Amino acid sequence: MRIDVITIFPGYLAPLREALLGRAISAGLVDLAVHDLRTWTRDVHQAVDDAPYGGGPGMVMRPQVWGEALDAVLALDERPARIVVPTPAGRPFTQATAQAWSGDERLLFTCGRYEGIDQRVVDDARRRDLTVDEVSIGDYVLVGGEVAVLVMVEAVVRLLPGVLGNPASAEQDSFSDGLLEGPAFTRPEVWRGLAVPDVLRSGNHAKIARWRRDRALERTAERRPDLLAALPEDALDDADRAF
Ligand code: ADE
Repeated sequence: MRIDVITIFPGYLAPLREALLGRAISAGLVDLAVHDLRTWTRDVHQAVDDAPYGGGPGMVMRPQVWGEALDAVLALDERPARIVVPTPAGRPFTQATAQAWSGDERLLFTCGRYEGIDQRVVDDARRRDLTVDEVSIGDYVLVGGEVAVLVMVEAVVRLLPGVLGNPASAEQDSFSDGLLEGPAFTRPEVWRGLAVPDVLRSGNHAKIARWRRDRALERTAERRPDLLAALPEDALDDADRAF
């Protein structure tokens, strides 16, 4: 997968080269390029923003700079890219979004700052039949898209084949079956007087699976009743319903 990021703070994306993502890049599973938006400014001040039409606080990022940046970065590779625009006004980014994007050959992230990017940049790209997703990572407002890009790239890249040491970890993730994952334990058996649940040391795999499923249901009902309510009818078996 090729990933391009356009930002006015390239240094903000440095963590993408650490740890799991860094290894995915070294292993050639991900090809990452971070671009400085100011490369495409034309004035001496290298301005990327201007006052909003209609008035109001804040500044809006200029379409000329973004339009040229997108054209140039898209042209770096012949594969079509999904253009991702992080914005608190976007559709929610979820595990299902990460799954869908993990099948893409190319992602291009545009980091907006200030009050966002002039809407015509997105409208123009869509008019040219490019795929543009405006997405939010949660109902809160960040200063810019950079941190949202770190979040989304990590969620997508860990799903690529060969990135996680044990592919079962991705399959058993919270959300992959629509439920939150239950609690986990490791050695020692008793720590500060707290014991690991007996069933996990029983060696009875069916009982362990049932126990884990029950804890997942319990936790989801407590913390995210919205997820439980959204499960399709056939996602629950009889034992789930009894629980
Ligand atoms: N930019 C600012 N806030 C954001 C959010 N919640 N999600 C995505 N991008 C953002």
